[in-house]
Amino acid sequence: MATRSRGKKVTLAIVGCGGIAGSHLRGYGELLEKGENRFRIAATVDSDRTRAQAMASQIEEKTGESVNVYRSIDQLLNKEKNLDGADICGPHGLHHVMSCKLLAGGVNILCEKPIGITVKATKKIIAAAKRHKRIAATAEQCRRSIGQRTINWAFNKSGLLGDPRIWMAVSSSWQDPKSVPNWHWRVDRKMGGCGMIMDSGAHWVDTMRYWFGEIDSVYARVEQLEKRPHRKGSRLVNDAREDFWTSIFNFKSGVIGTWSWTISAPGKGFVQLSLTGSKGTIVDTDIFHPATNQARGECQLVDGTTYSLPKLQKKFLGSLSKDEKNRLFPYGVTGGMPLELWDFIDALSTGRNVEIDADEGLRSKAVCEALYESGKTKQVVKLSDVLKGTVNAYQRDVDRYWKL
Ligand SMILES: NC(=O)c1ccc[n+]([C@@H]2O[C@H](COP(=O)([O-])OP(=O)(O)OC[C@H]3O[C@@H](n4cnc5c(N)ncnc54)[C@H](O)[C@@H]3O)[C@@H](O)[C@H]2O)c1
Repeated sequence: MATRSRGKKVTLAIVGCGGIAGSHLRGYGELLEKGENRFRIAATVDSDRTRAQAMASQIEEKTGESVNVYRSIDQLLNKEKNLDGADICGPHGLHHVMSCKLLAGGVNILCEKPIGITVKATKKIIAAAKRHKRIAATAEQCRRSIGQRTINWAFNKSGLLGDPRIWMAVSSSWQDPKSVPNWHWRVDRKMGGCGMIMDSGAHWVDTMRYWFGEIDSVYARVEQLEKRPHRKGSRLVNDAREDFWTSIFNFKSGVIGTWSWTISAPGKGFVQLSLTGSKGTIVDTDIFHPATNQARGECQLVDGTTYSLPKLQKKFLGSLSKDEKNRLFPYGVTGGMPLELWDFIDALSTGRNVEIDADEGLRSKAVCEALYESGKTKQVVKLSDVLKGTVNAYQRDVDRYWKL
């Protein structure tokens, strides 16, 4: 695979060194191993210094270069004068706070999904990026993976599946509320924003927009069927997140989607995703990041022909020119996360924009919020109203808390 040496070397910081930052680190490691050397991670930041230190030590071990450790973005901006970009892996409620501070400090940002905690928070990030003439990227990896690029090709380029028609996504399971986990920021409405519709769901809405285009309106029932206490010190605090939703999506193209999820169905559960065009269907068993980290799905056409997902991937790769392959899978990298990081590095290095910027992130963000808004009002909700901000009853308490 051709190596790329265009552009300048960029200096990065990782902000928030918890769970997903560890996956980012593995992604950076893969890029280095494959020959991408236009970046250096010069600093780590976490309010928990031991986490920032542990991540810095791992990077030093891998690269042999020193990494500075900070407890806050203010400290980072005071000391690091040559930062090009920051990779934000903090809690949802802090995404806009961290992003706006870094952008005002002249630093481009790659912010983990779901970009801002609300539509207003996301618009604040977009405005800051414009004001300071910096890139604000949404860290969304799924659509970049070879599995999802293949399904996009199957529906929208190859003609294999005919015209996209319907998709159905259902996951039904039981998590016993009697088992009481430790409190975590996701449980808190003001910090998490709410549950899986906008957490892992942020991935699926980006994917559905990528495969099937923009959404006109949605209708949803969003409920909390069980109280789920969490242990916070000596107290028990109930989880704010939904444990059930069912929803209908009306796409501008005419495609219809249904998406349902629960962890409050005692007894036997099931998961099914089916994506249907006029000539066939692809099935998978992941309703949040299908075909991203595995290729277990299957495609069956109306004439009975079947393709395993690995076989479909081969057909897709065979259809690409050398230039297209290099653009989609630089250095032969096919995993979504290293590709999302590569996109940010290459954009900063060469002065182009990223594939999924904050505006694109906002369009997905608004879909998740539209479901919550519909759940609250029990009405069909138009996406354009959520994007404009004229429908925001569900988000209002969070916006008030963050003074948005
Ligand atoms: N792309 C994916 O597949 C994926 C998967 C999981 C999580 N995420 C996203 O990553 C983000 C982080 O999630 P996580 O699971 O890693 O959470 P986490 O709690 O494991 O990590 C968050 C880190 O941020 C630190 N932090 C909190 N406040 C801070 C502050 N003021 N300044 C500096 N650091 C601070 C915490 O100490 C912690 O180390 C979320 O947006 C989440 O949705 C993405």
